[in-house]
Amino acid sequence: MKKLPVLFVLLLAASVGIHAQPSRMNDFIGELMGKMTLEEKLGQLNLPGAGDIVTGQAGNADIAKKIAAGQVGGLFNIKSVAKIKEVQRIAVEKSRLRIPLIFGMDVIHGYETIFPIPLALSCSWDMAEVEKSARIAATEASADGICWTFSPMVDIARDPRWGRIAEGNGEDPYLGSHIARAMVKGYQGDLSSNSQIMSCVKHYALYGAAEAGRDYNTTDMSRVRMFNEYMAPYKAAVDAGAGTVMASFNEVDGIPATANHYLMTEVLRNQWHFKGMLVTDYTGINEMTAHGMGDLQTVSALALKAGIDMDMVGEGFLLTLGKSLKEGKVTMDQINTACRRVLEVKYKLGLFSNPYKYCDEKRAASEIFTASNRQAARDIAADCFVLLKNQGSLLPLKKAGTIALIGPLANSRENMTGTWSVAANFEKSVSVLDGLRQAAGDKASILYARGANLESDSLLEEHETMFGKSLHRDPRSKEVLLQEALAAAAQADVIVAAVGESAEMTGEASSRSNIEIPENQQELLKALMKTGKPVVLVLFTGRPLAIKWENEHLPAILNVWFGGTEAGNAIADVLFGAVNPSGKLSTTWPQNVGQVPLYYNHKNTGRPLPEGGWFQKFRSNYLDVSNDPVYPFGYGLSYSRFTYHDLRLSSTRLHGNQHLTATVTLTNEGTMDGKEVAQLYIRDMVASITRPVKELKGFQKIFLKAGASREVSFDITPADLKFYNSSLKYDWEPGEFVIMVGGNSRELLSASVNWSR
Ligand code: BGC
Repeated sequence: MKKLPVLFVLLLAASVGIHAQPSRMNDFIGELMGKMTLEEKLGQLNLPGAGDIVTGQAGNADIAKKIAAGQVGGLFNIKSVAKIKEVQRIAVEKSRLRIPLIFGMDVIHGYETIFPIPLALSCSWDMAEVEKSARIAATEASADGICWTFSPMVDIARDPRWGRIAEGNGEDPYLGSHIARAMVKGYQGDLSSNSQIMSCVKHYALYGAAEAGRDYNTTDMSRVRMFNEYMAPYKAAVDAGAGTVMASFNEVDGIPATANHYLMTEVLRNQWHFKGMLVTDYTGINEMTAHGMGDLQTVSALALKAGIDMDMVGEGFLLTLGKSLKEGKVTMDQINTACRRVLEVKYKLGLFSNPYKYCDEKRAASEIFTASNRQAARDIAADCFVLLKNQGSLLPLKKAGTIALIGPLANSRENMTGTWSVAANFEKSVSVLDGLRQAAGDKASILYARGANLESDSLLEEHETMFGKSLHRDPRSKEVLLQEALAAAAQADVIVAAVGESAEMTGEASSRSNIEIPENQQELLKALMKTGKPVVLVLFTGRPLAIKWENEHLPAILNVWFGGTEAGNAIADVLFGAVNPSGKLSTTWPQNVGQVPLYYNHKNTGRPLPEGGWFQKFRSNYLDVSNDPVYPFGYGLSYSRFTYHDLRLSSTRLHGNQHLTATVTLTNEGTMDGKEVAQLYIRDMVASITRPVKELKGFQKIFLKAGASREVSFDITPADLKFYNSSLKYDWEPGEFVIMVGGNSRELLSASVNWSR
């Protein structure tokens, strides 16, 4: 039998988990650090990406040697217990102090069972489902040896040009904060069991505010805006106990986040009391040279001094901090602090007491991609789809007659999972064609034609993607593809057009300046409309698209985002009415890209255009487009019709810490049972700084039987009225508040209250 390292014996009785006893942890780590050389300490700060899947440019050949030499603190994106065990064995048997490694991965929206992309998931407005998806992702990832996920991504984004809007929760800090909490809870629990993993909140901070929606681009904004509109979700995740935080690539206030002492230390640690570990993004330190902050030694020292603990991929810490220490550019205290924080993560995960805690080979076979996980993915996906239009109740479709399923996304499995599905097996996803045929059985016949390629320009489609996925262009001419589609359409009673973006058109480094459906697919839609048959648009996208024409001309539009492994089944469930759609948008959908950024919680300005108005000279508007979106934040239809009546307030004059109750009557006027997201918005009419025209302050997802009514109440306290004033003090100010309740941010019942101190 192998000799157990002394450290593990010491720890056998130690408690693990997020509630690990601090004094015991401190003593243990103190004792361990007492034995560590400077080089070993720097090794702990090093996070190479030497796994199966490398997401950037850097590779790492002789990783085993480095681990044995104590030069590695963790690894990311290695898949399988066997491989992880092999590498962990090197760390705990060959390295001098036998310190275990941590193993991270981008488990962003599921592991092998892929859930809808995060932007879609946010449209469920269902925190139990969000948490469940994270829980299942953690269970599957941990069954494959992973103990740390680079999720949740909570960057607020208001610019659909930015490809990574797909990875976040949309434009609203209140909804985003709820999701951040649910995700952290789902991944981590209390970290005591081997199916719970450490989360990493990213990308701190303001990554989603990249200028012009161009990835990695500069962000710059006032602190008032930053705290009121962007920071809440990061803070919510930290408050929920997120064990680690990832720095963003962008600069903030002229300083890259990775070296930004204000963000990393003053705000995150001193104001928010974050006690965990801070990791860079992929080569985030090295990239500061291109930002213009100095050579590798300089930027590595800046990052450490700002408060960064672990260096992902770039090895700036490993290679230069020793020299910087000698030259007095960093202190031993700074290195010790970072090292301690990395070791604390390992302690909290229980890796010192059992470095193979996450290496149970039996688990993978019974816990990954199971029937019940897939069923959960199917149910959750169906709840994320947003029914954007349904003229004449064209949907749900009857399982009868002939349905022509047409479009480049109709028979694609690899596109269903969307961006960041590192561990997915794309071929195991369910396509729309698979799903519809399965659901229709012999009751309806489903004809299929591709109709068009994803893009007319072959470059985008054919480029080798991040994960080596290729998008299978059909070599036939545009005309031949169209004729085949029209022939199928001619035989059908109804056409289902599965069009939109490919998975690769959103996600990291996938910004677009044109946010319409690709032109050749628009042509396909127009040709299908000309047949005179009813056309249902099943829209795939990872961002809000500009679909004004489609909204005006197509009778039914179901936005399905990228629904994950079970997308095709979930789409069939909704199209045939087994599930009544209940998703609501977490972003505003503009009429055109020129309106961007367009978001519901904007300021009034001194020259506002009345809502729903058109152009007026000397008002804040455009000559060529109204200020309205095509679909507002919070919008989404159902096969039922939900109506709101009779907004009642418990009082219209409130004082101090009193509570206000706002109640409405919600009715399902349809013939199907369904779920509705009732939303509460508040406007602060007069304050010391200008306030948004409305802000989401509450929501409830409610199930109502067909024909049923119920009262829905929201409890409002002064905490809901708070904001950061120009001194960055978080407080509320007395005065008039408008309370609004309804089914989306545009159609609301409203009433006013006066709230005094
Ligand atoms: C992304 C991160 C990700 C990291 C590791 C980076 O390119 O920005 O979100 O976690 O790679 O794969």
